[in-house]
Amino acid sequence: ADPDSLQDFCVADQSAISISVNGFPCKPASEVTSDDFFFDGLSKVGDTSNIFGSNVTGGNVLTFPALNTLGISMNRVDFAPGGVNPPHSHPRATESGVVIEGKLLVGFVTTGNVYHSKVLTAGQMFVIPRGLVHFQKNVGVGKALVIAAFNSQLPGAVVLPFTLFASTPSIPDDILTRAFQVEEKVVESIKSKFSS
Ligand code: GLV
Ligand code: MN
Repeated sequence: ADPDSLQDFCVADQSAISISVNGFPCKPASEVTSDDFFFDGLSKVGDTSNIFGSNVTGGNVLTFPALNTLGISMNRVDFAPGGVNPPHSHPRATESGVVIEGKLLVGFVTTGNVYHSKVLTAGQMFVIPRGLVHFQKNVGVGKALVIAAFNSQLPGAVVLPFTLFASTPSIPDDILTRAFQVEEKVVESIKSKFSS
């Protein structure tokens, strides 16, 4: 979904903070080395000891600057048994993933509110069309691992529990009570789970 490149590469220079462009400016070609084009961040197991029992490790332009202008990125998602990657969407990319280990329920909902889901095991793939709300749950007995690819160097993630109940400042309670048809104490209770 990102624009096409106009050159072989444009390794992001994340220290050029005084320049504002759509993406990142390029590191001078004379300073680019082979190391720029390799990234081992997805080799590390993510820490799933959190309220969701899952952990997303990003291999995007922020962690792997050589992806700048190339229109792709990848995530590693680790799951403890029963762990959930909560409902979220990616505003800038379609996502396709492959299960590496474990048994994973993958689901998404269309703009017409049709729910599509399937339980996948190692080697099986899924696709989440750009912008649609989706989740994964480890429904196996052991841990689970998925590697996901995106057609954006920085797909972005709107994580609904945080977006709706943990923004800064907060969405007013009366908006959320009306939207979800619940009492204020329910909204306060959900908000309290995410306040640090
Ligand atoms: C999984 O849905 C991910 O965004 O990494
Ligand atoms: Mn996703």
